[in-house]
Formats: sequence, C-alpha cells, structure tokens
Amino acid sequence: MTLRIAVTGAAGRMGKTLIEAIAQADGCQLTAALERSDSSLIGVDAGELAGLGKNGVIVSGDLSAVADQFDVLIDFTAPAATLANAKVCAAKGKKLVVGTTGFTPEQKAELLAVLQPVAACMASNYSTGVNLCFKLLDIAAKVLGDDYNVEVIEAHHRHKVDAPSGTALSMGEVVANALGRDLRSVAVYGREGQTGARKPETIGFATVRAGDIVGDHTVMFAADGERVEITHKASSRMSFARGAVRAATWLGDKQPGLFSMQDVLGLN
Ligand SMILES: NC(=O)c1ccc[n+]([C@@H]2O[C@H](COP(=O)([O-])OP(=O)(O)OC[C@H]3O[C@@H](n4cnc5c(N)ncnc54)[C@H](OP(=O)(O)O)[C@@H]3O)[C@@H](O)[C@H]2O)c1
Repeated sequence: MTLRIAVTGAAGRMGKTLIEAIAQADGCQLTAALERSDSSLIGVDAGELAGLGKNGVIVSGDLSAVADQFDVLIDFTAPAATLANAKVCAAKGKKLVVGTTGFTPEQKAELLAVLQPVAACMASNYSTGVNLCFKLLDIAAKVLGDDYNVEVIEAHHRHKVDAPSGTALSMGEVVANALGRDLRSVAVYGREGQTGARKPETIGFATVRAGDIVGDHTVMFAADGERVEITHKASSRMSFARGAVRAATWLGDKQPGLFSMQDVLGLN
C-alpha cells in the first residue's frame, strides 16, 4: 500500500528537498503540501514549486482541511508552526516526522505532551551519517572518559536562525550522557574575554554562520599528547530529506509512541 505523505513548509529549503525525495522514494507519494495560509503560493502546484514539473498536488494553507488526504506529515518549519501542526495531527490521528529545531525547553515539553496519542519521530538530524556519528560519539566518550576535554564545533549557512544547531546540542547530549554529566550544567556556549582556565567537566560549543554551508559538525576529544575528532559534513539537504522519508515509511505500521532516528536505523 502506498504511504500518503504531507509536507509543511513546502516552499522552504527542506520542504522543496522533501518533495523531491518523496518523488524519488518507492512506496510513498506526496499527497498534500502546505504553506502559511496567507502565502502567495497557495494554489500553486507543489511539483512545480520544487522544480520537478507538475505533480497535481496543490499547495494548501489549512492542515485540518487536508487531513483526510495523508497518513504521515513531515514537518520542517519553525517551532511555533510545528506545535500548531502537531496539535492537528494529534486531533486527527496522523503520524508525524518532526525535523524542526530550535524549540525552547517549554516548547519541547508541550510538543512531547501533544504528540502522546500518535506515532511520531523527532530528530535534530535525519542524515544516516550523523546518526552513525551519534553512536561513534557514545563509544568514544565511554572509551576516552574524563581525561579528554570535549568541544563541539558547528558551521551552517547564513540563514540559520538558531544556535548552536540542534545536531550540535544532540552531540553534546550523547557525550554528556555517556560521561554521566548533565549537559545543562556543563555546557559552555561560546567564550570571550577573561574566561579563566577551562574547567575539565565542561563541554564547549562554538558556532560558525557563513555562506551556503549545509551543515558541518566536529566533536573534539583533546588530551595531553593526542586529539580525536569525529566529523560529519553535509553537502546536500537531500541526506536529511531521504532520512525523513525513511522515518515516515518506518512509522507507517507503528503504534503511538515517540521514536528517534536511532530507532529508525536500528541503532538503539
Ligand atoms: N532535523 C534535520 O535533519 C534538519 C535538517 C535541516 C533543517 N532542519 C530544520 O528544519 C527547519 C526548516 O529549515 P529550512 O532550512 O527548510 O528553513 P526555511 O527555508 O526557512 O523553511 C521553513 C518553511 O517553514 C515555513 N514556516 C515558518 N514558520 C511558519 C509558520 N509559523 N507557519 C507556517 N509556515 C511556517 C516557512 O514559510 P515562510 O517562508 O513563509 O516563513 C518556510 O516555508 C529549521 O528548524 C531547521 O533547523 C532540520
């Protein structure tokens, strides 16, 4: 049976890439595409919007109104929009793949509560390579232990609105958990001026915003005499989009619950 997928933020960078990834994937079909209700793109063909030629899916501004046209929603928009879309999915019993990042702790808690009645996948990064890196980071942190200083360095394009990236935070969380630390108490976000010597238990984050960088992440484990670096570089948004479509397909037969890309890839 063909899985029917809706995409919100259809005209966004990820939205257009998702439309292309769905068109390339077996066993699923784009059946709804959404933008803001006041967008000038309402009524436009979603395939044309993504540069693929007409696909017959007309961009809508009302998720509730098209709820009977899809099984799973893939949402890469903005925190407020994702929260509103999640409420519609919960009310209509629709599965949800959340790609949006930058939620405040309060927004995240509300989202998790809203998603309880449905099967949903949430990941700060849907690329297979990054999820493999999460696994490698867990191993590295456990093997290297407290003798190594951990720093997370990330770079993204100039349009990105949240920092550090959701992926960088997830990487910090994986390392903190592996070392038995609470990221909230040990994270240091940027350094300036007379910072004093580095406290050994801290996990530092450094952010670069420039040009069209799709997403680079490095986690550095540095000790006296050696340094281990685990790096991932994304050169195309297609890696995120393919992963999100894979997550949507995987959710197809799942009962309500919150899943991660690690679950989708069988890495847990
Ligand atoms: N998890 C991952 O693997 C991954 C990978 C890449 C990106 N992301 C995240 O995905 C999100 C989108 O990234 P992007 O680069 O595609 O951004 P983008 O190009 O700005 O696209 C966002 C889309 O969402 C729409 N949108 C924003 N706020 C909205 C609202 N309140 N109501 C309705 N629509 C709204 C935007 O419409 P307007 O243009 O009208 O505002 C736009 O179409 C970001 O949070 C980013 O960090 C996650």
